[in-house]
Amino acid sequence: PAPLTLLGLESSCDDTGAAVLRGADGRAEILSNVVAGQADLHAAFGGVVPEIAARAHAETLDHVVEQALAAAGVPLSGIDAIAVTAGPGLIGGVLSGVMAAKGLAMGLGVPLVGVNHLAGHALTPVLTDGVAFPYLMLLVSGGHCQFLRVDGPEAFHRLGGTIDDAPGEAFDKVARLLGLPQPGGPSVETEARRGDPARFDLPRPLLDRPGCDLSFSGLKTAVLRARDELVAAQGGITEQDRADLCAGFQAAVADVLAVKSARALAGQAGLTGFAVAGGVAANKTLRARLEQVAAEAGLPFVAPPLALCTDNAAMIAFAGLMALEAGRVDDLTLSARPRWPL
Ligand code: KG4
Ligand code: ZN
Repeated sequence: PAPLTLLGLESSCDDTGAAVLRGADGRAEILSNVVAGQADLHAAFGGVVPEIAARAHAETLDHVVEQALAAAGVPLSGIDAIAVTAGPGLIGGVLSGVMAAKGLAMGLGVPLVGVNHLAGHALTPVLTDGVAFPYLMLLVSGGHCQFLRVDGPEAFHRLGGTIDDAPGEAFDKVARLLGLPQPGGPSVETEARRGDPARFDLPRPLLDRPGCDLSFSGLKTAVLRARDELVAAQGGITEQDRADLCAGFQAAVADVLAVKSARALAGQAGLTGFAVAGGVAANKTLRARLEQVAAEAGLPFVAPPLALCTDNAAMIAFAGLMALEAGRVDDLTLSARPRWPL
């Protein structure tokens, strides 16, 4: 088939993204990938505020589209199709993106395709590393945690996932209760470097339960309890206490994810690789553990560059390309789906 030039839009959480991508036959080149974060807008509230996010997406989408086109050197008239995140995510943000995409598709008279945000993450290793199907994907972000066996561009099999918090959410909560800045992942990782991971006896939730489900909320509560005990005993926590708690928490998360990853890999035949995506995959301790798990299973470990691991529109454009090539296309009745399991 002739290569298609797609404009992708992403607005399901707290990043507004637009990207231009060109490709065919499951291969593509990213011509531009613009992401405008909203972290500063939400910082004072200690979490993403849906109303503020929706308004910011609506205000920012036009700008990021202009920037993405300019950076790619492609005029609007050079766009062959529009791909947009249609869910899952915060309804206001998803709606902003879907409405913008409909306007563009209608104005240009080009096809529109709604993409599942999780499919965008899950297909990224094909875009970045040309990984062949089927592969195992561990998606670990602030909002998601699941193991997916990816059999094809629209064929996902969920093997397990968190039954409560996502790991990024747990990193963020632990940072908050230890007085560290948001986003919590990078702050906890930095503190953990000077800490002793063995000092506190923190739980490894669900390790004794068969299957690939995970849980992180009890671990976060255990950190809270350990902190409160220190405060009760000595009137506060020292720098060293804080570093040790961070190191212990991070080690527990890495242990749990490593054990469950090994289990997920062992249960599947014919895999070509083990891939990760999501902001938590930036964690070096975790990455090293998962790399080791992949090596023990005799499989290549695929970790896309960080900018493509976290929320972005290039992955949405790529999933849209795959969908269009598989013959799937939407029309102006496309709706936003805040809940949309793969
Ligand atoms: O994928 P992402 O950018 O956004 C979504 O959640 O969709 O992931 C953000 C999450 C935050 O919870 C952040 O604390 C976590 O990823 N994170 C990390 C690290 N960097 C970001 N967690 C652990 N270690 C890190 N180095
Ligand atoms: Zn995401």
